[in-house]
Amino acid sequence: QDLTPLTVVVLGASGDLAKKKTYPALFGLYLRNLLPKNTIIYGYARSHMELNDFKKRISSYLKGDESKKQEFLSMCFYHSGKYDEKASYDQFSEILKKSEEKWNSTSVNRLFYMAIPPSIFLEVSKGIHDSLILKSGGWSRIVVEKPFGKDLDSSRHLVTSLKKLFMEKDLFRIDHYLGKEMVQNLMVLRFANSVFEPLWNKQHISSITITFKENIGTEGRGGYFDEFGIIRDVMQNHLMQVLSLVAMEPPVSMSADDITNEKVRLLRCIQPVRLDETVFGQYLGNDKIPGYLDDEGVPKDSITPTYAAAVFWVNNPRWRGMPFILKCGKALDERKTEVRIQFKAPENFLFKDQDITRNELVMRIQPGEAVYLKLLTKKPGLENTIEQTELDLSYKNRFENLDLPDAYERLILDSIKGDHNLFVRDDELDIAWQIFTPLLEQMEKRHLKPEPYEFGSRGPKSADELSKRFGFQRSTGY
Ligand code: BG6
Repeated sequence: QDLTPLTVVVLGASGDLAKKKTYPALFGLYLRNLLPKNTIIYGYARSHMELNDFKKRISSYLKGDESKKQEFLSMCFYHSGKYDEKASYDQFSEILKKSEEKWNSTSVNRLFYMAIPPSIFLEVSKGIHDSLILKSGGWSRIVVEKPFGKDLDSSRHLVTSLKKLFMEKDLFRIDHYLGKEMVQNLMVLRFANSVFEPLWNKQHISSITITFKENIGTEGRGGYFDEFGIIRDVMQNHLMQVLSLVAMEPPVSMSADDITNEKVRLLRCIQPVRLDETVFGQYLGNDKIPGYLDDEGVPKDSITPTYAAAVFWVNNPRWRGMPFILKCGKALDERKTEVRIQFKAPENFLFKDQDITRNELVMRIQPGEAVYLKLLTKKPGLENTIEQTELDLSYKNRFENLDLPDAYERLILDSIKGDHNLFVRDDELDIAWQIFTPLLEQMEKRHLKPEPYEFGSRGPKSADELSKRFGFQRSTGY
């Protein structure tokens, strides 16, 4: 572990992301003793706030022992400054220098965490570059959060503008799905077990479905969400990352570059999504629950989708002709993210007279991390019937004292270590946008209205029909 003193600067410290994710993750690392002994965490934002009020604001989301919480909070400071004014950053720079001098160390590292809205991304980056990065004596790294643009052009603009300011090695683009335990387990499952590889192709698999469901609506985030919609918010990034890991060829090694090279190669084989193979929806409200259009910040005539399902085709020898179905939505019947691999029925099937389902391998990313394989077995007893059962590897039952770190904990730790493995590379981002931009443009040009669906339902009716059209068979149980 690097013991060099560390200053973490959280830009946008008064915002939601900082409060709900960044600070709790830093606290998690503190509890695990993974921050250097000499660490300070400086929040920077526009809002004027007394330090104590700021601490109160963040402490409501910190979970753990009270005395540890107080120790952690004593490392936290707050400075209010403008985002678009060099003088503000210069003043802040002096404050940082003074705090760091107390350590009396020849080197200090600085980690800048940008928890800010995309509209001020570039001005803040410029502020960091001009006034805050260290010129010598330690590293300065920048952690950035999506959205990385709205389409191919804006993403390219962002990438090139950031490139002028920072080197790729110092930039850490977060896709927090990559920090999730089960997402990391995908490569282990695929490449460390010999039983899967021979089956992992279109000869044996009939479809792969990746589902992201939330049982809450936009809840006050409507202003942000309406500009982006579910395709940009979840599908283009989180679900494409999962798809890449499920479908890529084995990398040459486990190095960050080799893994990303394989992901990029895979993404390059994916054809742009077609409108006639897409379903999108928007949730309605009822007497008790507000609908999407009732959310503050959402225009009453918004046609932004809160649900999307789309089919992807990977044009390579392993997958050509086999559908990948991606589905994501808010305000649905449950919270669940999973990968569902549905196998083909055996040839010359002997049990034609019985109602049987296909084998499925399910990797549940959250909640309740699990891997399970649906199998058919003979019902025990005298009858000759077949029933579906599961080989079940639920983490909760399998691993004692399970204490899984939050995705953000792992990612912040990796950025401190300088490990790029779980971060998004610029070319990866570019290709992901190439897959979606034609669809997004068509939807917007033609002003296509999303299909309404009930809050708490499975989503638009056409989404299940889409899966069925591409051969997915719904099974019972689990
Ligand atoms: C974020 C999206 O990136 O991911 C949110 O902006 C979404 O809209 C969230 O709710 C889901 O993350 P998780 O970790 O709760 O699945």
